[in-house]
Amino acid sequence: AHIPVITIDGPTASGKGTLAAGVAARLGYHTLDSGSLYRVTALAARSAGVAPEDEAGVVAIARAMKLQFAGVVVLLDGVDVSEQLREEQIGAMASQVAAHPAVRAALFDLQCAFRQLPGLVADGRDMGTVIFPVAPLKVFLTATAAARAERRHKQLISKGIPASLADLRADLEARDARDRGRSTAPLKPAEDALSLDNSLVGIDASVQQVVDWWEARLPFGA
Ligand code: C5P
Repeated sequence: AHIPVITIDGPTASGKGTLAAGVAARLGYHTLDSGSLYRVTALAARSAGVAPEDEAGVVAIARAMKLQFAGVVVLLDGVDVSEQLREEQIGAMASQVAAHPAVRAALFDLQCAFRQLPGLVADGRDMGTVIFPVAPLKVFLTATAAARAERRHKQLISKGIPASLADLRADLEARDARDRGRSTAPLKPAEDALSLDNSLVGIDASVQQVVDWWEARLPFGA
């Protein structure tokens, strides 16, 4: 059966997750937050004392971890780790473990399994280029580094976590440089991706744009 997929790729803190959730809610589709899989791998490695540089060690962790998903909740070996996954340190470690080709390969089937009826909205870095290359609609989300740092800053402050805007911006630029520069599945727009600049329009307008693009393709996407 043909199960439709919309991919949303883009850099750190560009608002991919919020956009994917909004589009999925409008269409009644499932979501895949692929970054959370690299984050949970990083967390499991940290808990086991495996260094992010240890590719074989991280692969063993990725194969052994027992995951359950319930909406935005992620259980690792039966424990809800959703909050921990959002830590900045885990995001940075996720970007390190994600640079290993064997780690990406170990997470491939799991990502494909999210493609279920009536459809999927998948967000990450390589959804349109590697995991779902035949997706009928691919979106590449951009936003300036300043807008992205501000977005992340607001998120942290609202949770009562103190943060420096300058440090956040430096961290996200370092993470993007690693994600763009790696040899396996680098962050880049698919050739057939449509780009959307999230610093120009609000979330509702972005969701509407993606839904409009999807409806324009429907004979093909449905
Ligand atoms: O999107 P998020 O910030 O949760 O992703 C965390 C890290 O996981 C990213 O910096 C990136 O290195 C990695 N990632 C990836 N491929 C994806 C999604 C995330 O390499 N599809």
